[in-house]
Amino acid sequence: MNLILMGPPGAGKGTQAEYIERKYWIPRISTGDMFRTAARFSTELGLQAKELMDNGQLVPDEITIGIVRARLAERDCAKGFLLDGFPRTVTQAKALDGILADWNKELDAVISIEVPTDVLIVRNCGRRTCSQCGANYHVQFNPPLLANECDICGGELQHRSDDREETVIKRLAIYAEQTKPLTDFYAERGLLISINGDQSLSAVFRDIVESLQERTRKEV
Ligand code: AP5
Ligand code: MG
Ligand code: ZN
Repeated sequence: MNLILMGPPGAGKGTQAEYIERKYWIPRISTGDMFRTAARFSTELGLQAKELMDNGQLVPDEITIGIVRARLAERDCAKGFLLDGFPRTVTQAKALDGILADWNKELDAVISIEVPTDVLIVRNCGRRTCSQCGANYHVQFNPPLLANECDICGGELQHRSDDREETVIKRLAIYAEQTKPLTDFYAERGLLISINGDQSLSAVFRDIVESLQERTRKEV
């Protein structure tokens, strides 16, 4: 299955991507995680991305498209993939069409997780992320078993540097302006699945799985 997971900052893309990855055995490709890893290793790309991310701005299209093209060429993507946080602009969406056409691949669905803005601010500000494996937690809605320690790998939990309230508000505005229009782009092609993300983690996942099953049944 070739999937895109869309939604504003804090919608639950990363959280649901972990569940989808485990259920369908497809690799999750998060451009945000790739940039954060590069920043941790202080590569040239990482330092450039970090400055933009900390400011709530997008990394330039040509850089982002380049890393996604290279990642999709890796062997594990042959059986399918889940893009988390890409594409984020019309230019990126068109570039993805080109990449997939080169390899005779097609998208199966674009899942868009919808959540009201006030909820998004609370979610982003309370998020904690594992410094080792990138797993997501929330101090209130999805706490780890041991305070400040990842349930999966024992890594230390951190507050993301772009999760300050003023940066979150900026990220939400950029989403509305540059990324939200992509829902129409994909709806016109009959690929869009809108999911109510303002429910429990398990209810959101259940709706995603049921919608994907419904689509598969229609295709048969
Ligand atoms: P990225 O890392 O993709 O961040 P984002 O899109 O802003 O989304 P988040 O990761 O903040 O939220 P999420 O939807 O994954 O939510 P999560 O599951 O963590 O990108 C970061 C930056 O990188 C960008 O700003 C940009 O600079 C750059 N970048 C990345 N991709 C790019 C691209 N394609 N082009 C250009 N630049 C790019 O959940 C949030 C919190 O809520 C967690 O604490 C979680 O536990 C909790 N939660 C989740 N679901 C629920 C629920 N149902 N109920 C209660 N709590 C919940
Ligand atoms: Mg994320
Ligand atoms: Zn971890």
